[in-house]
Amino acid sequence: MNSTYSRIVGTGSYLPKKVLTNRDLELAVDTTDEWIYTRTGIRQRHIAADGEKTSDLALEASRSALRAAGIAAGDLDLIVMATTTPDMVFPSTACLLQAKLGVRNCPAFDVQAVCSGFVYGLSTADSFMRTGQYRNALVVGAETYSRILDWSDRSTCVLFGDGAGAVVLRRDSTPGILSSHLHADGSYANLLTVPGTVAGGKVSGRPLLQMDGGGVFKFAVKAMDDLVEEALAANGMQKSDIDWLVPHQANIRIIQASAKKLGLSMEKVVVTVDRHANTSAASIPLALDEAVRDGRIRTGQHVLLEAVGGGFTWGAALVKW
Ligand code: UT7
Repeated sequence: MNSTYSRIVGTGSYLPKKVLTNRDLELAVDTTDEWIYTRTGIRQRHIAADGEKTSDLALEASRSALRAAGIAAGDLDLIVMATTTPDMVFPSTACLLQAKLGVRNCPAFDVQAVCSGFVYGLSTADSFMRTGQYRNALVVGAETYSRILDWSDRSTCVLFGDGAGAVVLRRDSTPGILSSHLHADGSYANLLTVPGTVAGGKVSGRPLLQMDGGGVFKFAVKAMDDLVEEALAANGMQKSDIDWLVPHQANIRIIQASAKKLGLSMEKVVVTVDRHANTSAASIPLALDEAVRDGRIRTGQHVLLEAVGGGFTWGAALVKW
């Protein structure tokens, strides 16, 4: 019987200083604050400064999580970075982050699962921890979506923002991460994609985000429902055992549908989409950090994380705090 598990012992996050409101966007594209807010729940998003890279956002979030966990970067045995907006083709943003943290030697790699990236990263790090080889792991979700948006396309540019969140996992004899559940179906690749690629010394294909919003919406609601059932069944738990839902923050209507499925009142759902918009792999750790720091999430509680993203990918983690 496995007796090595991992627990989340510190969270951190970082948002770039610049705030772009719906009103600001009204001046740039044919949209309104009213349309954006009623269709998505978004009021504003943060935008990285020129020259501020994904690894810079990740660094701030990581430092904050390390402080909360009470460990030094040198104590890390593993760095898993979830991002769809890496600093460059390679090295991985995880390696660039490791260097910025001033440490060497521990394994560091990126996980690419778009908006499900943090759940994928958490599950990956937890699996490593369960082997017993590692004591402390850093899992980061960081994104600069502002760089891959078509700022003249009102159907997508209003939906996303930049930010980073991080957690520190520590090896423990009792589980903090109770279970994780990952899925993918690449046949949906075209619903949400940045199809451009670097080839022959130039970018070929469109290097900007394109999405079938309605198709994504339908898929997301169904996938979130299935994840709830799967995570509860795997742990022999009831809906009423869940203290907090921390969903991927893409659209308040998707979040409300998932809460309804769980029979949870919206007071038990951590919502940041109004202030952060969709920060892809960063959205769950950003929301988690907010609810831990303001005292909503407390020791002993059960927290369900769930996400759906391009790929398509989807996944959940049930965590005992
Ligand atoms: O993390 C995963 C990533 N993405 C998502 O989760 C997104 C999932 N999808 C959604 O959140 C929603 O489908 C959207 C917010 C993208 C769209 O909401 P909707 O209620 O499905 O609207 P719609 O696509 O049906 O568009 C309705 C109308 C269209 O006009 P017509 O054809 O009815 O005249 C759009 O052209 O709204 C128009 N529209 C806008 N109007 C003002 C689209 N974008 C905008 C805009 N401002 N920004």
